Amino acid sequence: MEIEHKIIGSTRIMGIIGNPVEHSISPQLHNTISKHLGIDAVYVPFKVEKQDLENATKGMRALNAVGFNVTVPYKKDVMKYIDENSKEALLMGAVNTVKCFEGRLFGYNTDADGFARSFKEETGVGFSGKTIAVIGAGGAARAIVVKLAMEGAKKIYIINRTVSKAVELAEIVNNNMGKIAFYCGDRESGSEFVDFEAYTDSDIIINTTSIGMHPNVDESPVPENIRLKSSQIVYDVIYNPDKTKLLKQAEENGCKCVNGLGMLFYQGITAYEIWTGVRLKEDFLTELYKNFQGILTK
Ligand code: ATR
Repeated sequence: MEIEHKIIGSTRIMGIIGNPVEHSISPQLHNTISKHLGIDAVYVPFKVEKQDLENATKGMRALNAVGFNVTVPYKKDVMKYIDENSKEALLMGAVNTVKCFEGRLFGYNTDADGFARSFKEETGVGFSGKTIAVIGAGGAARAIVVKLAMEGAKKIYIINRTVSKAVELAEIVNNNMGKIAFYCGDRESGSEFVDFEAYTDSDIIINTTSIGMHPNVDESPVPENIRLKSSQIVYDVIYNPDKTKLLKQAEENGCKCVNGLGMLFYQGITAYEIWTGVRLKEDFLTELYKNFQGILTK
């Protein structure tokens, strides 16, 4: 009989709290990193019911976990059980990463970091001084829009089916970071800009909605009559399919295109770095990303 020694007396917990969590690829990602670095931790998925969120969160502290991720539907609700949420997470209204340190819980949002890191990695372009159109005004849009504002975007257009949500998101940015965000809608709604103007004026177009996600692969958030320009970069947070209808439209017009796989990957990498204080090396990340793509496209 072989003695199992991967989990030993000193092993600490990492994990993910959410519901559902069965589909999560985070355990594979984080356990691979721990194995590679020789870090004595194990990452476990925890399916938590709504009424147990407080106990589960405080339980992670009680169990001396290293840290944990929080996913749908608890990214907002978890914040009230955290001792100290980062300024970014407060503005984004969501926490997806918690670090347990000296008996206290610290909340962060690495979704937006993941987005920014993957965007820069794949395009070589940053957000400072850029005019950017963001489609959607939900949780993902809020994290991304706040990040764009923090990184010096010149102007952000917010385009959303429900215009009132775009108005609210623009206000969050404008009240906290200077007047750079504009909602789009019909002139009758009081909007300064219509969608068409946002699309044609922007250097970067970002889809944060689920439009075009499997199985609705024939849908695109950008109308066919909008002619994208080859100088524009188009980012879609969707990674299934890996090339959405929007990215196909963009590619046909010669735009640089990026899907959301890198965002998913780097939100996890940034979380791991926050928990452990280790900065993962570029060559390791490149190899890990290749393998990670393999897992997701199976
Ligand atoms: P997430 O956390 O992924 O951002 P969310 O907070 O539910 O999810 O936000 C979903 C976003 O996608 C919203 O902006 C939503 O538009 P509404 O505010 O009008 O609901 C947008 N969205 C989702 N499905 C859509 C569809 N079929 N057409 C247009 N917008 C859609």
